[in-house]
Amino acid sequence: MESASPARGQWGSKLAFILASAGSAIGLGNIWGFPTITSANGGAAFVVVYLLAVALIGAPVMLAEFVIGRRTQRNPVGAFRALAPGTAWVVVGGLGVLAGVMILSFYSVIAGWTLAYIIKAASGEFVAGADTGAIFSSVAGSAPVAIGWHFAFMALTVLVVIGGVKNGIERWTKVLMPGLFAILLLLVVRAVTLSGAGPGLEFYLRPDFSRIDGGVILAAIGQAFFSLSLGMGAMITYGSYMTKDDDLETSAGWVVALDTSVALLAGLVIFPTLFHAGLEPGAGGPGMVFVVLTSLLSTIPPEPWGGTIFGVLFFLLLMVAALTSSISLLEVATAWLVDDKGVSRKKASIGLAALAFVIGIPSALANGAVPWLSSLPGIGMDFLSFLFMIFGQYALVVGALLISVFTGWVWGVKNAADEVRSNDGKFSFEKAWSFLIRFLCPVAIVILLGYLLWQQLGG
Ligand code: TRP
Repeated sequence: MESASPARGQWGSKLAFILASAGSAIGLGNIWGFPTITSANGGAAFVVVYLLAVALIGAPVMLAEFVIGRRTQRNPVGAFRALAPGTAWVVVGGLGVLAGVMILSFYSVIAGWTLAYIIKAASGEFVAGADTGAIFSSVAGSAPVAIGWHFAFMALTVLVVIGGVKNGIERWTKVLMPGLFAILLLLVVRAVTLSGAGPGLEFYLRPDFSRIDGGVILAAIGQAFFSLSLGMGAMITYGSYMTKDDDLETSAGWVVALDTSVALLAGLVIFPTLFHAGLEPGAGGPGMVFVVLTSLLSTIPPEPWGGTIFGVLFFLLLMVAALTSSISLLEVATAWLVDDKGVSRKKASIGLAALAFVIGIPSALANGAVPWLSSLPGIGMDFLSFLFMIFGQYALVVGALLISVFTGWVWGVKNAADEVRSNDGKFSFEKAWSFLIRFLCPVAIVILLGYLLWQQLGG
């Protein structure tokens, strides 16, 4: 049996593992990504497809990643090498390392906006009649401001990752995640009691199934992977720090449930407010959620303290949620350099973060600072949204497809199930999981990608 070298570190307790994985999953993807993508894909019908994608595709892939990680105690590259030596499967791990750095590049830009918003809130800008669009432009539309906060957030991420798994990652999640949950609940109450909240709730909760097409389904599956941190080996890496006592099945269940609840709550905050503010769903781009949140916070009495206190608190907690996610994005490539290339943790994380910072600069300029990056010629999308689509959706879908084929057919569900059972002899959903990971996940993804390709080719 393989064992982790002591230098790699392990989680301190069972709860710590669930918290750390939930910390990775819950982040900008829930509070920024989910409402943005729901709004661009027509509302409630997308939400239904999203929930199906989470339950039938996301959850099984999460368990598969946990299993691979704990079994091998390696980063994704080493994990595939250990389970399928001398084959091309290591490429899946390599794809993960690349996707992690690319996602981190734009993730840090958006997280940088949250840092800037903490200051905006603290300086009392969130009051009735505030020009919320102008506030967003003064952050995202200014090159030095956007790049400066992008740098600051990347530096924070490195500081935590240098601390290592146990000291760095565990500490943050324990107190602050429940805080985020609590403030979201409060904002839901405020949002649904706004005048004109009705049409927003209807858009979000009453499905119009004629809106569903191949593109909507792909967006839902891609968003499920992004939000659950799947498809690039982040959960393989986190699983590799688990002990043999951890219950993989229960952990996956908790992480999926927590992550999905936070996304659904975020929708309940954003959509009533969006309609209350008289904005068009689907028209806002990456700034929409920030604009909408500011207009909500600005309605909290008494002025200016309501908007100030809740604004600082909310964006602080959102920033921490983003931090517990960004460290998992950086951790994958760092673990690879440390385990396989013998680089020190400090050098590896600083070098990789510097790379992600530079790659992120065009994304930092893509929301107003540089016009052609804000609407790419021939594509029409801004550069940040474009990178999100390529690495935050397509790459993860392909990565998860390969992970499910590998687990279901190459390494085999029998071996995987033995590992799931190794703590207490139980695997309650073994039959369902085996079916989903062998058949539904790969087949659904292949059909969907084939259909979209055929559509692209003018079919
Ligand atoms: N899941 C995180 C979020 O919702 C982002 C994230 C962290 C991620 N690690 C990941 C996305 C790995 C994909 C893969 O904000």
